[in-house]
Amino acid sequence: MLNFELYNPTKLVFGKGQIEKLSELVPKNAKILLAYGGGSIFKNGIHQQVTDNLKGFEIVEFGGIEPNPHFETLMKAVTIIKEQNIDFILAVGGGSVIDGVKFISAAVHFDGNPIDILQKRILITENAMPFGTILTLPATGSEMNSGYVVTIEATQEKLASGGSALFPKFSVCDPTVIQSLPKRQLQNGVVDAFTHVMEQYLTYPHDAYLQDRISEGILQTLIEVGPKVVENPNDYALASNFMWCCTMALNGLIQKGVPSDWATHMIGHELTALYHIDHARTLAIIGPNLYRVLFETKKAKLAQYGKRIFNLNGTEEEIAQESINKTVAFFHQMGMDTKLSQYTNDYTKTADFIVNRFEERGWKGLGENQQVTLEKVKAIVEMSY
Ligand code: NZQ
Ligand code: ZN
Repeated sequence: MLNFELYNPTKLVFGKGQIEKLSELVPKNAKILLAYGGGSIFKNGIHQQVTDNLKGFEIVEFGGIEPNPHFETLMKAVTIIKEQNIDFILAVGGGSVIDGVKFISAAVHFDGNPIDILQKRILITENAMPFGTILTLPATGSEMNSGYVVTIEATQEKLASGGSALFPKFSVCDPTVIQSLPKRQLQNGVVDAFTHVMEQYLTYPHDAYLQDRISEGILQTLIEVGPKVVENPNDYALASNFMWCCTMALNGLIQKGVPSDWATHMIGHELTALYHIDHARTLAIIGPNLYRVLFETKKAKLAQYGKRIFNLNGTEEEIAQESINKTVAFFHQMGMDTKLSQYTNDYTKTADFIVNRFEERGWKGLGENQQVTLEKVKAIVEMSY
């Protein structure tokens, strides 16, 4: 097992009705920026619940944070915070609103040009504005981690960053919020969380036995509840297990002491930046082809995955191959199209475009062993057409 440090200061408040604790979670006398997305929180009553539970607090609202949040939009919130002496931010939304708030929190006190935080990937370890979250969409794990992904509209770049000062102070995770989610977003949540586990699990055999078993437990639970929760979002047992899987998939726990990959996400982000494809759907397009192109280095772990998750029999090689087919079948069951050409007609130059971008950024070797070279990125993307 690799050496590790575990630091996660987020207070997670999980379960039905937990939003009632909001006024105790927010610092006393705070002047709050209530940040949200395109307005779903008005339709499903979550906005009402938030304001009901924050009576007596001074609140300034900032709506309109878009899916795959834009740097340009977020900077407007930074201006409001400075003008109105706000001292706490409450993110009410899915990964996009929470990620957007992390960037806002980083940018408010940043000494320099905030775009550098993204383009130079500056990690924020101090001087962030404190914030809490009310999660409305289980998927990203952003409610309990310190990472975020923001798109610069002007350059069509979708960039990930983070830092230890960017953990939420608290996150309220009430599984009943999923009742108003469109089926497509529920499907996305399952596949995003599944792929988060795969990024940290599907590398090469190592001796972190417990991390492997926890990862496999999350994968198995997602396979068990995913197809059902999409059809029955009102079922609390399904909703709560789905939500907890999503948080556990990316709150840092399964990443400790193990190698991790993340190349599927890095390539997938480009497909969102270029074609506005939902984040999870980009992962369903790229992930299986990355496993195919990296088959030799990932074969042993694929075989473990095939045996333990899908109960496959045969030679190591056969099990490893079949486990990729099973993964694609699961993604199809979860309503994913897994080819780029199913989302856009304009795909023929995508591989070259992404390779050039990665080259400019100096990303010449992604993945657990830096084995995802530019040549391999090209092969993966072309295989995904
Ligand atoms: O904007 P509103 O009106 O709220 O509608 C949203 C949005 O249109 C809607 N929605 C959210 N909760 C709802 C709801 N609709 C009805 N009822 C509810 N309860 O869902 C739509 C999608 O929301 P979004 O926040 O974009 O989805 P998601 O949570 O999947 O977040 C995706 C973003 O997170 C990033 C992705 O790259 C993407 O930008 N990620 C962040 C990560 C992290 N911080 O650790 C890791 C992930 O890998 C991912 O990259
Ligand atoms: Zn993701």
